[in-house]
Amino acid sequence: MSTTAILLAGGKGERLGGDTPKQFLELAGKPLFWHSLDVFEGSPFVDAVVLVVPSGAFDWPPLNQDEVNQDERFPKVFAVITGGETRQGSVAQGMANLPEGTEIVLVHDAARPLLEGGLIESLLSQLNAACEGAIPAIPLEDAIKRVASDGFVEAEVDRREIWRVQTPQAFWREPLEESLRAAQGLAIDAPDCSHMLTRAGYRVKIVQGDPLNLKVTRPADFHLAEMILHGRQPAIRGGDS
Ligand code: CTP
Ligand code: MG
Repeated sequence: MSTTAILLAGGKGERLGGDTPKQFLELAGKPLFWHSLDVFEGSPFVDAVVLVVPSGAFDWPPLNQDEVNQDERFPKVFAVITGGETRQGSVAQGMANLPEGTEIVLVHDAARPLLEGGLIESLLSQLNAACEGAIPAIPLEDAIKRVASDGFVEAEVDRREIWRVQTPQAFWREPLEESLRAAQGLAIDAPDCSHMLTRAGYRVKIVQGDPLNLKVTRPADFHLAEMILHGRQPAIRGGDS
């Protein structure tokens, strides 16, 4: 099975703020997006990486294209391409630039630098003839309420039915291509890829996500990610939390 990871680093990072998109900021000693790129480079389950960046990004020092394409440091990087206006648009660009022979696609947000290799294996192990997609998700532990626009609690929500979804997300290539075409045809802009698949009638299974695989969205997440990376020790990980 040939597996390609599409690493989405094509956003503007508006909620984090600042002039440089968050994925190019230095985090614990290297650009934020290199953390997950290094995990893909080190994974025996990933054959190639398509890196999606914002238009104009090739001029920014953290994205030294020579280095990203350098055979020794990032031998799996098959292409570095410009993304779209939305996340889904960037996924579409990635899908249009897959290496020939790709059968499985992993789509990952570069904004999740705490990805660990074991998650990739558990996602891929779910894909079979009856399961077109696998996504990591975390159950909720707080009480969940539906709240009206006036700030009053409207209803209780059973938290056992609600999961927080992460990336990477793993899919057979063809159902992902077909779901993307269907979403584009209906002018749907899906916030994650599994949304497109379930809409198109495909089966997507969840696997236990990693609570530490957080998405760097706001400044507090950036600091938290840095603290976790600095303090990361295999001996203190591993619980379901
Ligand atoms: N992304 C992308 N192309 C876009 C928008 C987002 O490749 N047009 C990527 C981001 O770089 C990020 C991931 O999708 O790795 C998840 O998006 P998000 O966390 O929302 O990042 P941004 O869109 O950059 O941030 P913001 O929404 O705060 O502007
Ligand atoms: Mg965004």
